[in-house]
Amino acid sequence: MRLGLLYALLRTEEKMLLKAAEDRSVTVEKLNAAQMSYELDRCEQLPPVDVVLERCVSHSRALYALRFFKSYGIPCVNTFEVAEIAGDKALTSLAFADHKVPTPRTIVAFSPEQALAALDTIGYPAVMKPVTGSWARLLAKVENVQQAESIIEHKSVLGHYLHSIFYIQEYVDKPGRDLRTFVVGDECIAGITRASEHWITNTARGGRAEALKVTDEIADLSVRAANAVGGGVIAADLMERPDGSLTCHEVNYTMEFRNSVGPTGVDIPGRIIEYAIAQARR
Ligand SMILES: Nc1ncnc2c1ncn2[C@@H]1O[C@H](COP(=O)(O)OP(=O)(O)O)[C@@H](O)[C@H]1O
Ligand SMILES: [Mg+2]
Repeated sequence: MRLGLLYALLRTEEKMLLKAAEDRSVTVEKLNAAQMSYELDRCEQLPPVDVVLERCVSHSRALYALRFFKSYGIPCVNTFEVAEIAGDKALTSLAFADHKVPTPRTIVAFSPEQALAALDTIGYPAVMKPVTGSWARLLAKVENVQQAESIIEHKSVLGHYLHSIFYIQEYVDKPGRDLRTFVVGDECIAGITRASEHWITNTARGGRAEALKVTDEIADLSVRAANAVGGGVIAADLMERPDGSLTCHEVNYTMEFRNSVGPTGVDIPGRIIEYAIAQARR
């Protein structure tokens, strides 16, 4: 069994995955995404591997790598299709809607005028997010039309082309925390709560991780959210609404888990490696 680990940086997570593979006597080929180049029918830098586990922080490198590996007939965790949808918040929201996964009300607009109209429709406060990105980078909570005009002007003037996509979402008045669950295949294997005084609760931004009791309702919603984008190894972000119902705002296809193994006691890297092995070419 030879597993290719596609990476950009060997973070704590990748080191934990390497250890989990070693514990299971799996040979790992480390594939540095920046060092690879792909011909249409082969990649010189790619040793023979039975499966590729994609763990790259760069979405664009990951996406194209997964697409080339698909053409070469190499199974990947996660698949190109999953990365394409889960790496884009607009496509993810649509996948949730298609699969009746409860998600916050969202409007996607493509000009400052339509963005302001969308905010008016959704009402303030609202949240604006870039469609690609993580660690809550460039998220904005917009309290009123004056703030909206200023943020939209910044996006337009400083803008990368991605900033001309305005992803606008209702603000969910959650109870000082959100829920992060881990899905591997058809199972929700673990969950944490992420608490913060800030409305952004990512652990990378100071949110405190604590074990979550994964109820049937939480597990069911997490697996449905993962399956909506194509399934595999997925982390789902859920919020509790004031009425107690749950809503899923995004899924992550190359998730971090260093802060989740301790509180949950679940061997997340071990479960990921075992899932990847099960997908390998025979
Ligand atoms: N619509 C929302 N209402 C309230 N809080 C939100 C909303 N969307 C995101 N958040 C908060 O911001 C965090 C980051 O948002 P998220 O959509 O998960 O982006 P990222 O991909 O950067 O993690 C969430 O975990 C949550 O705490
Ligand atoms: Mg998130």
